Amino acid sequence: MERTYIMLKPDALKRGVAGEIISRIERKGYKIVEAKTMQLGKEVLKEHYAHIADKPFYPELEAYMTSGPVLAMIVEGPDVVLGMRILMGATKFEEAAPGTIRGDYAFCTTENLIHGSDSVENAEIEIKRFFK
Ligand code: PPS
Repeated sequence: MERTYIMLKPDALKRGVAGEIISRIERKGYKIVEAKTMQLGKEVLKEHYAHIADKPFYPELEAYMTSGPVLAMIVEGPDVVLGMRILMGATKFEEAAPGTIRGDYAFCTTENLIHGSDSVENAEIEIKRFFK
């Protein structure tokens, strides 16, 4: 069974919409097999976002991602990596379609509520990173 790494970002917990987002994941039929809240440090974040660490928006992303706890999850299901990306909606909030998590809840790109692995290979790397 395929697995993916899902992370509810600090704004999801601050706004109290974590439960609603989890309901959408479960309603789709996916199974949350592990979950834990964590306070991320700059080091693990730089590893996780190594491919964008030199982008101009990175300092803002780092400040936001370390501003409060995240909810890290391993989610399981058939084709769950792609399925979760569809459920999440586009990264840029203005491109996220209504009905998707970001389309319904996000009003800026930095605070876009949720992270999901973009490939099966990265899912396994990210699961190892956050669930050692
Ligand atoms: S890219 O730009 O296509 O190489 O980036 P991507 O792999 O999609 O990951 C971008 C992550 O950075 C977060 N982020 C932003 N992206 C684009 N523009 C702005 N301004 C921005 N601010 C933050 C974005 O949410 C992606 O994070 P994850 O956690 O992967 O969703």
